[in-house]
Order: sequence, then structure tokens, then C-alpha cells
Amino acid sequence: MTLREIMKFRHTVKKYDPERKIKDEDFHEVLEFIRWAPHSMNFQLVRNIVVDRESKLNKKIANQEAMYSNHLVAKDASKLQFYIVPKNGSIKFDDPIFKEGIKYSAFQKTGRDVSDISENDIEEVLPMFKESFSKNLINMMQEWATRQAYIQLGYATIGASHKGIDTTSMEGINPDVLKEIFISEGLMTENEVVVFSLAYGYRFDDKSFNKSQRKPLNWFTHEVK
Ligand SMILES: Cc1cc2nc3c(=O)[nH]c(=O)nc-3n(C[C@H](O)[C@H](O)[C@H](O)COP(=O)(O)O)c2cc1C
Repeated sequence: MTLREIMKFRHTVKKYDPERKIKDEDFHEVLEFIRWAPHSMNFQLVRNIVVDRESKLNKKIANQEAMYSNHLVAKDASKLQFYIVPKNGSIKFDDPIFKEGIKYSAFQKTGRDVSDISENDIEEVLPMFKESFSKNLINMMQEWATRQAYIQLGYATIGASHKGIDTTSMEGINPDVLKEIFISEGLMTENEVVVFSLAYGYRFDDKSFNKSQRKPLNWFTHEVK
């Protein structure tokens, strides 16, 4: 499919075929595509949980309490992906997750592979990060990471369409209920937040989505030449 065809294929699907299952190899290709999305400073603080329709966990999640009006999509889609970011105030400069972020951030421009970066290397640049990282940013990791999660969402919808897989972006979820479920399953910690979900599967029929409509280009973009 050309990029134009991929974009024409993509719609927010409202009803999934409950019989069709995404092949692991196709889904892993989509995951790889998402994993290579760009990140501010390459810190990579966003992770995700994928719940298969056939799993026991899906039964705990695919209900109105956790998924509001998206519960039927959650029940029938082949997979549900939940994007997780660190809670504000949960990351301190000396935490392993911050140092891991530094590892990917600071050394990329040197061309050194992350696997060659030692704890000492990180300690050497840590003071510079402490100084340059604004106080605001360290206190707003949740918002910062959430912005990166939305970039991944864009990648995910396009990556899935490329494999002929449909998606539904879902902000209409109950993050507190989901968090409780994921913590009880050992999949998430108190220090994290669920920001949105993405359903993957195959449209039930040609009427399983609304016709996409957008504001005109001349409203959307003001080109100055
Ligand atoms: C961040 C985000 C959150 C969304 N949340 C929901 C949702 O909870 N439920 C839903 O049915 N659609 C949701 N949508 C889908 C939008 O309503 C949809 O993208 C928009 O109406 C345009 O339709 P189209 O994607 O089919 O072109 C969401 C979309 C985005 C980008």
C-alpha cells in the first residue's frame, strides 16, 4: 500500500470482528514501528501493556467501568494496548529510570552504542543533566512522557494500517480502574499512569466506522512563501 492508500484505509473502527485474530508476526511488526518513533531527548519513558482478547485479563478490562463507552470495542478487538507513563513527581535525578534515560539521551550523539555505556559514564554526565534539566521538567515527567506517547499513537495507527489492521484510539477510559487492575496483576506500579488505550483488530464490515471528515487545508495550514 502507498502512504495515501494506508491513510485512506485508516478509520476509527467502532465495531470489530470478534472472530478474527491478529497474527503475532504482524503485530510485532507494528510494535517495532512504534518503538522507533522519535522521543524528546530520546529519554524513552513510555511503555505499554498489550492485552489479548483471548486472555483472562481481557474479561476484567472489557467492561463499562474500565472502558466506558468503548467497552464493546474492548471486548471484540483482537488486542488492546495501554500506554503507561511515569506519574509526576515519581522520578528523581538519581533514579535508575532517569539514568537509563540519560544513557539513551546523552550518548546517542557520540555514536557510542548504549551497550558500551557504563554506570561511570552516566555518573560523569549526570551533573550536567541535573543542571540543564529544568526543575519544571523533572516535576512534569507525566506531561512530557504523555506527549511522546501521543507520537507513538500516531505511529501505531499508521503502522497498523500498513498491515491491514484496524485501530481505535481511546482516551475514553477509566485510568484509575485500569491502574488498579494492572497493579493487581503485577503489570504496573503505583508510580505510573495509564494515559490512553489503542484497540487493534479487523473491522466487522464496511459500516464499522464513520466517514472521516477534516477541516479544509486552507484553515489547517497557513503557508507563507
Ligand atoms: C487521542 C484520541 C482519543 C480518542 N478517543 C476515542 C475514544 O475514546 N473512543 C472513540 O470511539 N474514538 C476515539 N477517538 C477517535 C476520534 O473520535 C476520531 O479519530 C475522529 O472522530 C476522526 O475520525 P477518524 O479517525 O475515523 O478519521 C480518539 C482519537 C484520538 C486521536
